[in-house]
Amino acid sequence: MGAMTNSDTPDTNIAAGGGADSATPETAPTSDDTSAAAPRTDADSGRVPDFGKGALPYGRPMQTEFDDGLEYPRIGGVSFRRGTLTPGQSAIWDEHWDRVGTVLSDDMIDVDEWFGRTGPTIVEIGCGTGTSTVAMAPEEADRNIIAVELYKPGLAKLLSAMTREGVDNIRMVRGDGVEVLQRMIAPESLDGVRLFFPDPWPKARHHKRRILQTGTLRLIASRLKPGGIFHAATDHAGYAEWIDELRDAEPSLEPMPWPWPESPMLLDRPTTKFENRGLNLDHDIHEYVWRKRGPGEAAGTTAEAPREDAR
Ligand SMILES: C[S@@+](CC[C@H](N)C(=O)[O-])C[C@H]1O[C@@H](n2cnc3c(N)ncnc32)[C@H](O)[C@@H]1O
Repeated sequence: MGAMTNSDTPDTNIAAGGGADSATPETAPTSDDTSAAAPRTDADSGRVPDFGKGALPYGRPMQTEFDDGLEYPRIGGVSFRRGTLTPGQSAIWDEHWDRVGTVLSDDMIDVDEWFGRTGPTIVEIGCGTGTSTVAMAPEEADRNIIAVELYKPGLAKLLSAMTREGVDNIRMVRGDGVEVLQRMIAPESLDGVRLFFPDPWPKARHHKRRILQTGTLRLIASRLKPGGIFHAATDHAGYAEWIDELRDAEPSLEPMPWPWPESPMLLDRPTTKFENRGLNLDHDIHEYVWRKRGPGEAAGTTAEAPREDAR
């Protein structure tokens, strides 16, 4: 995979997070965090800082100026993330990253070459520590899974689990999922897209940072093959209302019912760390599935999708 060029500005990362009740990993800034903070190195913890392979490039994160009149997530402040790995994770990272990982760039991914085979391909955006990714991959051994995440320790956990469990149908891209879809994924090349428990950004003034917007739906639809599936889940009631309003926003995506036993993509998701946290707080899990319409399929006849998971 291609490498990025560095500029001379400090190593920064975009602020991902959802504020006070976000289930974002420990390194995410609060939603009020708009300033860069000194990177934390903790000699006592035995952890090592985030440099070397898989580090995000220096400088302003890549951000496309879309001019289609739709809404796209606005990236918040620029802030440092701690981004530390245990020595064991670091060793696995250094050994395997070049083969199974890459960083956001303008190089279109050659999926067949990367996986060494031709097969249906699914992108998971914001995989976190990859709990569901690594649990679902063996159930989909004939599918190529591309996990996208900003948070390096999350990807490092996923990589460690992959090597421990001998799972080899996952590849990883470190970077903003919107930019990865836009710059690295060919149009109409995907069989599925997953978005599980995106950061909720609960404060009204931060809703524009939510990853699901009209433009994101259009972008996801553009990357799906006709008949391809988009599956999203949230345990945040406010985000569920937000998604309810977006359900019919993209004409090329047909909302499907839940549950949907005939789905061509696996929808059965093991409970993730974030989902568990929500369940412990008695949150309802809301599941959403869309199917990309084929050419000539008219919008307007949509299945009734229930808002809450019956599990
Ligand atoms: C609440 S966590 C959920 C993680 C995982 N999907 C799960 O269910 O356990 C949201 C994750 O999305 C990641 N994230 C936020 N914005 C992102 C973006 N624009 N692109 C890729 N990942 C993103 C965060 O770093 C975080 O790991």
